[in-house]
Amino acid sequence: MGEDPMDDKLFWKDAVYAALAGLAAEMAEQPVINKDAVIAEIPPDPQMGDLGFPMFPFAKIFRKAPPAIATLVAGKLAAGAASSLGPYVNIRFDRAAVARRVLDAVLNSPDNFCTADALKGSRVMVEFSSPNTNKPLHLGHLRNDALGESIARILAAAGAEVRKVCIINDRGIHICKSMLAYKECGNSATPESARVKSDRFVGDYYVRFTKLSQEDSGAEERAQELLRKWEAGDEETVTLWKKMNDWTVRGMKETYVRTGISFDQYYFESETYRKGKDEVLKGLEQGLWTREEDGSVQADLTADGLDKKVLLRKDGTSLYITQDFGTAILRHHDWPFDRLVYVVGSEQRYHFQVLFLLLDKMGFEWARNLYHLSYGMVNLPEGRMKSREGTVVDADDLINELRDMALEEIRGKEREEIVGDAMETAEKIALGALHYYLLQITPERDMLFNPQESLSFTGNTGPYLQYMGARISSILRRDEAAAARTVPLNAALLGSDEEWELIKMISQYPQAVESAAREMNPSLITAWLYELSKNFSRFYHAAPVLTAPNPELARARLALCEAVLAVLRRALNLVCIPFLESM
Ligand code: ARG
Repeated sequence: MGEDPMDDKLFWKDAVYAALAGLAAEMAEQPVINKDAVIAEIPPDPQMGDLGFPMFPFAKIFRKAPPAIATLVAGKLAAGAASSLGPYVNIRFDRAAVARRVLDAVLNSPDNFCTADALKGSRVMVEFSSPNTNKPLHLGHLRNDALGESIARILAAAGAEVRKVCIINDRGIHICKSMLAYKECGNSATPESARVKSDRFVGDYYVRFTKLSQEDSGAEERAQELLRKWEAGDEETVTLWKKMNDWTVRGMKETYVRTGISFDQYYFESETYRKGKDEVLKGLEQGLWTREEDGSVQADLTADGLDKKVLLRKDGTSLYITQDFGTAILRHHDWPFDRLVYVVGSEQRYHFQVLFLLLDKMGFEWARNLYHLSYGMVNLPEGRMKSREGTVVDADDLINELRDMALEEIRGKEREEIVGDAMETAEKIALGALHYYLLQITPERDMLFNPQESLSFTGNTGPYLQYMGARISSILRRDEAAAARTVPLNAALLGSDEEWELIKMISQYPQAVESAAREMNPSLITAWLYELSKNFSRFYHAAPVLTAPNPELARARLALCEAVLAVLRRALNLVCIPFLESM
């Protein structure tokens, strides 16, 4: 058994296979045993053991009932470790040896233990958030941001080199609508003069445009006119455009800082769409697609089972997809990736299908390494927090509300003294609640965000995990802990069922990271976290740490707490949950 604490599984798989092969060799016809049929399962009840190998697949070969085979196989294995139960060969690990190995690995180099190298050598670019500049970030972006940031962190923990990027869709009719309303009703106000967050300020004019266009049928046309002026480079229009986009982007960046997400590079549609246009025209020359009678450029994808797709409008202006060609090509030029992951809502599935296919037709060999990580809608329970438009909810408003609820809880429990800065703690609890709730569900599924539930301190929530971290931290800070540390560590003393289950949980963490990275699914980390917290609670109730029966055991349990905390902190970070020393 090597350095990897999970090697026990491979070791026993080999051993069970060898035992089966031994049995086969004793038979006259000496049948061949297929090693792939030797499957390790986790027994439903830990009392049965740590691994179970079902013997069903070998009944035919041995012409015996599975329980009889199980008995024979167990008889060939080390008596203390193996036993048979019905059709299963059950294995019990050497608890002392595993405990020593796991604690040693975690406590000596936690960063090393908590990372994998499954994806070593691969370069993955992750695009996420990617807002439009006509209004602030909303609840859907919060799910997108949490997913993108978390997946980037998980991929990096699994060994990949990761680059986080964002495309700001800063041109087009949507932003011209905000611009028009501002031009006509803004009276040169600024976010500062209005004392409104700058992205919200711009968003308010987008809402204003909706009203305007209901009263004044010419408004829509005047917005189109602004777009034409912008594309023609009209100075006044470009200046206004720049001013308003700067406001929006500045405000969004404040929200990114607040929620703990960041990008290595921003791309702006206004800077990539021309490149996209050029590529479309190049493809036209190559005969990849055609110019229609009305002057538009269209790709006929019916042979690929898709529709006809407009790539340039009849007036030559570009569409949403046009810039995506330019953006993807520039990205690959800037940072040649092995994979580019687009974290974008499931309603754009068709868009990406078409985009990837067209880039492939253009001859970019990396087009096959593009991946749309699609995620479902997120809604609020009926009747809650109607936004100004009645449908979407601003990200900032939602976080504020969560923070205020957390603050109330802290004050209600009179814990302001203990936590230090109550406002800051409340903000971190709010983010923990939000991110855990958003990430615990598989990305594809639609979901309902329930603020109350997300903040519960007792259920399967972010704050509950934060609380566990704070509780362990407080144990480790105690004077008795310092005293216990003077005793030499003997991890082999950790043999109780509760201690053992906790050690096993820790040992499975690198596997969880690897699976989450391969599936690009943060919910595998939240699920691991929840299991860990349940196991820790059981341990904590069953086993006093600093008041253990003897100093050696106190020392060993303290080390176990240290190991849990070391892994917990890193796991929380992967799912964007702030760690709290006290709460
Ligand atoms: N800004 C777009 C929207 O809000 C999403 C951009 C997604 N990314 C992309 N490369 N097309 O719908």
